Amino acid sequence: MATLWGGRFTKDTDSQVFAFNASIGFDKKLYRQDIEGSIAHVVMLAKQGILTSQERDVLIKGLTDIREDVEAGRLEIDETYEDIHSFVEANLIKRVGEPGKKLHTGRSRNDQVALDMRLYTRLQVLNTDALLKELMTVVLDTMEANVETYMPGFTHLQKAQPTTLAHHYGAYFEMFKRDRQRLKDIHDRMNYCPLGAGALAGTTYPLDRGYTAALLGFEGPTLNSMDSVSDRDYLIEFLSALSLIMMHLSRFCEEIILWNSNEYQFVEIDDAYSTGSSIMPQKKNPDIAELVRGKTGRVYGALLSLLTTMKGLPLAYNKDMQEDKEMAFDAMETVQNCLTLFTGMLRTMGFKRERMAGSATKGFANATDAADYLVGKGVPFRDAHGIIGRLVLCCIDKGCTIDDLSLEELQEISDKFGPDLYDAISLKSCVEKRLTVGAPGREAMREVIRISREYLEEEWQPRDWQLPNDK
Ligand code: ARG
Repeated sequence: MATLWGGRFTKDTDSQVFAFNASIGFDKKLYRQDIEGSIAHVVMLAKQGILTSQERDVLIKGLTDIREDVEAGRLEIDETYEDIHSFVEANLIKRVGEPGKKLHTGRSRNDQVALDMRLYTRLQVLNTDALLKELMTVVLDTMEANVETYMPGFTHLQKAQPTTLAHHYGAYFEMFKRDRQRLKDIHDRMNYCPLGAGALAGTTYPLDRGYTAALLGFEGPTLNSMDSVSDRDYLIEFLSALSLIMMHLSRFCEEIILWNSNEYQFVEIDDAYSTGSSIMPQKKNPDIAELVRGKTGRVYGALLSLLTTMKGLPLAYNKDMQEDKEMAFDAMETVQNCLTLFTGMLRTMGFKRERMAGSATKGFANATDAADYLVGKGVPFRDAHGIIGRLVLCCIDKGCTIDDLSLEELQEISDKFGPDLYDAISLKSCVEKRLTVGAPGREAMREVIRISREYLEEEWQPRDWQLPNDK
């Protein structure tokens, strides 16, 4: 048991209390951010004359060595310390002696952990964004190659109107685009530096908070020190954005599972992304899609958990807030794994285009177009709807499609039908006539693909930054 705060105590902490209180088991993930934040703090302290330049150099070297040693496996993060902050500081003192004891000047673990978590979250926002962009590239490539791959569109899981694979995938492209926009908003809103807020009321040292903020790639310092140490909004927003990403992935997975089923047979998931059954030799299961759908639950759980933890906390820091980490880390990792696996599955998935088109010609998916045909012959839409409804009933009776009826049979129901009906309600013309913005018709679709390609190319570039060497 190693703590930074023994002075005021006359007894050792109970060992169960120590274990219950400690966070190093999970906050050791933050070691890079903790060291990065400390280096920026040291550079700023020296600029302000609070540390000498020799002290600064010794501290920076010590901190850099710790990071390198951890990364090279030469230094194991010792879990007898309370948290990662205590471990790094104690190890630094062990390495560099006296100057190490000055590291925590003008700082509290409250602003330190607020900074570490923000730096870590900011990095994960960017990683998630990069994975989403990769997924969207696969989606858009598939759209481009499938502008004329016809398939049924559904409402209530019943065939509704014919559409294309490009159009169906385009719906997900839009969802993922909104997901990326949310990430950018979150990044920009969270990109303010809490370091220098101290425990809650700032410090008496003449810190240059703007300078530390700039060193760490933030827009500027946060403006209220109490809020700085007790704000976890950015993390809740990120968990909420992650939940939406999972909701989108989960819906996409559900469709792939359906399309992959024996009944649909629209797609063939690649062998590399499927699994078998231990008893049924014929099985090839869509486990990846099911797992991604399933893991949505734990990401929602992380969001709900943190919202509930934060509810009712008085200002400023409370230890409850240590609970912001485990489930959030899990959610961040889960979403990145899901995005990676899902993208691979999508990239390798095959389409059974004839089955898809064949399915679109059944189930009266062209009934709306048949009604529109009658409107073209001067029949008011409501009457046309009724006529086609009767036609559909008659087809159900005969076990055929509208296109199967002879002209005589059609004309028994309405004398407005002519031989041009067949072409008007063919699968191709049902789709190609839909040319409103956002519709599946070839020209409309190509225009959306062009806009989407442009969107993917003009990349969101967060500001590049590194610690300056202006010693
Ligand atoms: N492990 C703590 C956390 O994650 C660090 C901050 C501790 N501050 C304190 N005053 N106990 O929130």
